[in-house]
Amino acid sequence: VEAADLLRGQPVMAGPLPEFDVADTPDSPGELFLEWLARAVQEKVTEPQVVNLSTADDRGRPSSRVVILRDVDAPRAGWLFASHSGSRKGGELAGNPWAAMLLYWTEQARQIRVRGRVEASAPEVSARDFLSRPEPARLASLTGRQSAPLAGTEEFETARAHARDVLESHPEAVPSDYTVYTLWADEVEFWQGEAERRHVRLRYQRGEDGWSKGMLWP
Ligand SMILES: Cc1cc2nc3c(=O)[nH]c(=O)nc-3n(C[C@H](O)[C@H](O)[C@H](O)COP(=O)(O)O)c2cc1C
Repeated sequence: VEAADLLRGQPVMAGPLPEFDVADTPDSPGELFLEWLARAVQEKVTEPQVVNLSTADDRGRPSSRVVILRDVDAPRAGWLFASHSGSRKGGELAGNPWAAMLLYWTEQARQIRVRGRVEASAPEVSARDFLSRPEPARLASLTGRQSAPLAGTEEFETARAHARDVLESHPEAVPSDYTVYTLWADEVEFWQGEAERRHVRLRYQRGEDGWSKGMLWP
């Protein structure tokens, strides 16, 4: 099979799609994000909380992966996610806090791009978040060493069994590198796709006295 044939036969931005009236948008991107998220949930968009996060190393080489969006601080325009500071992304963020988050909601052809600096929460805040997570998630996190090379399945199973013991004897155990991160946006773009490519783009930019917004050519 030819990849190009498979790819070009796929439909994209097949409607019905929502309208995006830029004249009727709030002054801050956090508020608009909440409006879009509420609608995505209401219209049962698939996994709207699954986002792409891109970081870059200290030489500017980017890498991306999927994470779960844990919360949004709408008034202060912060997008929260959780991970391990010892992972690749954690290491990159420690050296270069600039990151980008991308959401694409297929059913609505809505793309949201967030760019800014990432800040790690205080350990108490991260610990509280960790303890609010369901047990399978805590077990997975306690198994540990995200992104380190793994010798094989056996090494993993041994670590997992150990983590299960830890969780049983110490239900309040928190991995030392579990971290809630906030991406403080300085730029957020809301993009509404349209079947005939009359896409609508609205970009918010953080300035000294608050947010400004403006449309972009599609
Ligand atoms: C649906 C989905 C959700 C995920 N959520 C998270 C998450 O919230 N935090 C996380 O660290 N990794 C999450 N992952 C795993 C990451 O994609 C990635 O494999 C891992 O964080 C290691 O990335 P790194 O080596 O670049 O640090 C998720 C993966 C998928 C497919």
